[in-house]
Amino acid sequence: MPRVFSGVKPSGDFHLGTYVGALRQWVAEQERNDALYCVVDLHALTEEIDPAYLRTMSFNAAVNLLAVGLDPEVATIFVQSHVAEHARLAWLLECTATMGELRRMTQFKAKAHGQETVRVGLFTYPALMAADILLYQADRVPVGDDQRQHLELTREIAQRFNARYGELFVVPEAAVPAIGARVMDLQHPDRKMSKSVDSPLGTIGVLDDPAQIDRKVKKAVTDTDGEMRYDPEKKPGLSNLLALMAVATQSTPEEVAARYTRYGDLKRDLAEALAELLRPVRERAAVLVDEPDTVHDVLRAGAERARAIASATYARAAEAMGLLS
Ligand code: TYM
Repeated sequence: MPRVFSGVKPSGDFHLGTYVGALRQWVAEQERNDALYCVVDLHALTEEIDPAYLRTMSFNAAVNLLAVGLDPEVATIFVQSHVAEHARLAWLLECTATMGELRRMTQFKAKAHGQETVRVGLFTYPALMAADILLYQADRVPVGDDQRQHLELTREIAQRFNARYGELFVVPEAAVPAIGARVMDLQHPDRKMSKSVDSPLGTIGVLDDPAQIDRKVKKAVTDTDGEMRYDPEKKPGLSNLLALMAVATQSTPEEVAARYTRYGDLKRDLAEALAELLRPVRERAAVLVDEPDTVHDVLRAGAERARAIASATYARAAEAMGLLS
C-alpha cells in the first residue's frame, strides 16, 4: 500500500484553509493508503508561542483531526515530539541541505521579514519538515499550495542523500488539490487565510457555528464591478468565494459562476453550504473535548506505531552517513 504522510502545526485554531487545502485530502487518502498524520509541535517552536497555549493547541489539534473524520483504526495520528527520530534525522538532513537552499525558502523570507531576532529553527525548519516526511518513506504528501516549495526541497535533499550515501529514501510527491489549494483571507483576499494573521473576520474556524460563518461570508470583501466571473488575479475576493462554493458543492468555480448573477445570492448560499460542510466536524469535536482520555490513547498508540517505522529509517540513515552503530 502506498504510504502517505502529512503534518499540521498546532500554532493556532484550524481554519477553512487548513480544512480545504489539506485535511479534506487527508481523510480521502486514509482509505486507500497507509496514512500517517502528525501534529508538528516542534515546528510550532520556531516562532514565539506560550508554553501552556502550545500544550492546549496540540491537544486541540488532535481533537480536530479526529473531528474532521480521520479514523485512528485506519490512519496513524501522533504528535511529532513523541517520536525522537524527527529531531535526530533533522540534524542529519541539516548536514545534507545547504545555506543557499534554505535561504531561498519564500516562507522563511516572509516570516523573517522585518523581525529583529529570528530563531535558528525558523531557518532550518524545512530540514525538519524533510525529516518528518523521509522518516516514513512517504510516497505522497497531501498539502496546500504554500508547502510546494518545501516539498521540492525535500525531494532535492532525498535525492542528494541517496546519491551520496546510497539509495535509502523514497522521493515523495506533493499532492495539492486542484481547487482550494490556496484559500484566501475573506477580508484581505490578497493574502492566504492563516492561523497567525490577526484577522478574525477574514478567517473561518473549522469549529465556527453557522451564525459566525454567515456573518463572515456576508462581510467578505469582493469588488464593485458586479461581474460574476472566476478570475483570481483580477477578482481575488469573488474568486475565493467561487472556489469555496465549488469545494462545498463538488463542482468547479466556473460552473458556480454560471449559476449566479448577484454576489449577495452567492454569499447567502455559500454561508449555508460551508455551515453544512463543517457541521459534522463541529458535532464530533463537541463530543471529543469531553473525552480527553480517548484522544490521549489515540496519540499514544499512534506514536508507538510511528516510532517503529521512524527508528528503523533513522538507524539506516545514521549508519549510511558513518555514525557508529
Ligand atoms: P500549516 O500548519 O501551516 O498548514 C497545514 C496544512 O494546511 C494547508 N493550508 C492551507 N491550504 C489552503 N489554503 C490556506 N489558506 C491554507 N493554510 C494552510 C497547508 O498547506 C498545510 O498542508 N510546514 C507545514 C507543516 C508540516 C508538514 C510537514 C506538512 C511540517 N512537517 C511534513 C507536510 C509534511 C505547515 O506549516 O503547515
